[in-house]
Amino acid sequence: MQIPIYNPKPQYEALRGELEQAATDLLASGAYVLGPTVERFEASVAEHLGCRHAIGVNSGTDALLIALAAAGVEPGDEVVTSPFTFFASAEVISLAGATPVFADIDPHTFNVTAQTLESACTSRTKALLPVHIFGQGPDMAEVNALAERRGLKVVEDVAQAFGARQGGQRLGTIGDLGAHSFYPTKNLGGFGDGGMITTNDDALAEQCRLLRLHGQVRRDYHTQIGYNSRLDAMQAALLQVKLPHVDAWNRQRQEIAALYDRQLTDLPGLRTPQVAPHGDHIYHQYTVRISGGHRDRVKESLQAAGIGCMVYYSVPVHHQPVYAHLNAHCPVAEHACCEVLSLPMWPYMGEERAEQVAAAVRQALAS
Ligand SMILES: Cc1ncc(COP(=O)(O)O)c(C=O)c1O
Repeated sequence: MQIPIYNPKPQYEALRGELEQAATDLLASGAYVLGPTVERFEASVAEHLGCRHAIGVNSGTDALLIALAAAGVEPGDEVVTSPFTFFASAEVISLAGATPVFADIDPHTFNVTAQTLESACTSRTKALLPVHIFGQGPDMAEVNALAERRGLKVVEDVAQAFGARQGGQRLGTIGDLGAHSFYPTKNLGGFGDGGMITTNDDALAEQCRLLRLHGQVRRDYHTQIGYNSRLDAMQAALLQVKLPHVDAWNRQRQEIAALYDRQLTDLPGLRTPQVAPHGDHIYHQYTVRISGGHRDRVKESLQAAGIGCMVYYSVPVHHQPVYAHLNAHCPVAEHACCEVLSLPMWPYMGEERAEQVAAAVRQALAS
């Protein structure tokens, strides 16, 4: 049995009738960009996450960029982020005209910490951009305390953690702004690109709404340079159908993770992912560490056995050629890039497949 690392099709199959009806209704509505369908979805996301505002944009990358711009990040500023993330988390800082500064990660959770963020701050730091990597975040109470001490804005990259909680709050609603992605592989995945900004701050929400629509206050009246970054109504209509199921899907991910944990803990040379005490892990990825230089060999033997697996991330962002001139050093992230391997993880995957994956990992490690 081939097992892909991710498979969005069972979610479609489970909700097929409702999704197809929503698509047909939207086609008939004639309103394809923003409009009532997007407004309804924005209100539903705000309610689901427990925040005042949700602003639909056309990708997670744009959500980050517009959030940074709304937070007042501009040329000459520095924004501190993680080196162990998808490139977009840092790219948006450069697109805003600022300079990314990289804070090293905790080796157990792969997240930045308030301490590593603080040691990367300088007098030019304007904002912190923690990335909630693989489905869990750093301790946001500590991150917020740091931001308050230094007068910084906090933009949470929630692309990989839609719905995860810390205490009574959902990630993306704890800092000043949260940036979510609805890319099809995400925990709440659409059928194309899409993104959302969340905030409890009325003024920041207003600024994000302006920026996503060419800085237009009213028709033919532009007070600033903005973007064309609107959520498609088709994505909103389809995501509206999926939203009520995302918590249950995240619980399914946690069940698969618990099975992997039981079957893979204590294997020599392999470390299962650790859940930080301060919040949920919703396993956007289930990522193990394989030491001793064996990671690539294990990856190849899993692939030969038909088990999908991926290295997220093989190169830390500060080692990307475009950022080489920054001369950043993040040894923990660099080491993680040599050891990490993400295993299949998707709702409806089921125990039988998870057991097959775990057996293949054990076999690959032993050989
Ligand atoms: C951590 C992180 N940040 C940002 C993004 C960008 O999201 P999108 O692909 O929707 O632009 C992604 C998605 O790949 C991501 O994983």
